[in-house]
Amino acid sequence: MSRRGTTAAQQFYGRWAQLYDLLAVATPGLSELRSRVADELHLSPGDTVIEMGCGTGANFPHLRERVGPAGRVVGVDFTRGMLEQARDRIDREGWENVHVVQADAATSSPREDVDAVLATFVIGMLGDPHGTVTRWLDGIRPDGHLALLDAGRSSRTYSWPVNLAFKGLVLASTPGDISAFEKPPWYVLDERIEESRRALSAGAVDVQDSEHALGVVRITGGRVAESR
Ligand SMILES: C[S@@+](CC[C@H](N)C(=O)[O-])C[C@H]1O[C@@H](n2cnc3c(N)ncnc32)[C@H](O)[C@@H]1O
Repeated sequence: MSRRGTTAAQQFYGRWAQLYDLLAVATPGLSELRSRVADELHLSPGDTVIEMGCGTGANFPHLRERVGPAGRVVGVDFTRGMLEQARDRIDREGWENVHVVQADAATSSPREDVDAVLATFVIGMLGDPHGTVTRWLDGIRPDGHLALLDAGRSSRTYSWPVNLAFKGLVLASTPGDISAFEKPPWYVLDERIEESRRALSAGAVDVQDSEHALGVVRITGGRVAESR
């Protein structure tokens, strides 16, 4: 993402941080999807998991539950306001093994071989999803997992009403000046999601892809091969 795009995204999410959980946590069915994508990480007690673009930490309960008190959850996000909400959540829950870091997830790679990496509703904001997903895969230990959850246009028959609603949501939630975009933001979103899936298929094995919420939500997970 360009520097201008990054600043626009940080300003946008900074502005909405306090209200974000109304959407991120309270949307019906979303918690179940968060649980499903967390299952794709195949976590065990004691594991370390990194969440890229963690926002307010809406996935943390699902990750913390799976790694237990002996494991570690690290959330990475570049928006201070979102991280403040995430820290409040950590304090409220009293989790001592959940931490957040302010950094650019597009250039971040786990420093040690972690057990798993998760990113939900983030791929559409990355300038180079293929390169970023490949970098994330490189930081995961052999046999560890990467899972992605994203929303894009549905390709199902008779999906136009749901896609119309989805386009409205994309327009309302895209940071920056949309009139300056070369293509409608939902095209860009679909292309980036596709690119990230290609990177996952190229760099991982046992890739599983599933559609949810009338085909709008896609969950993709894969395992890093034992020898690479
Ligand atoms: C739509 S929110 C998703 C938050 C969370 N993953 C969830 O599922 O609720 C996107 C989040 O990604 C963060 N983000 C986007 N691009 C990022 C980047 N390159 N580095 C770090 N954070 C990023 C934004 O600050 C925002 O908090």
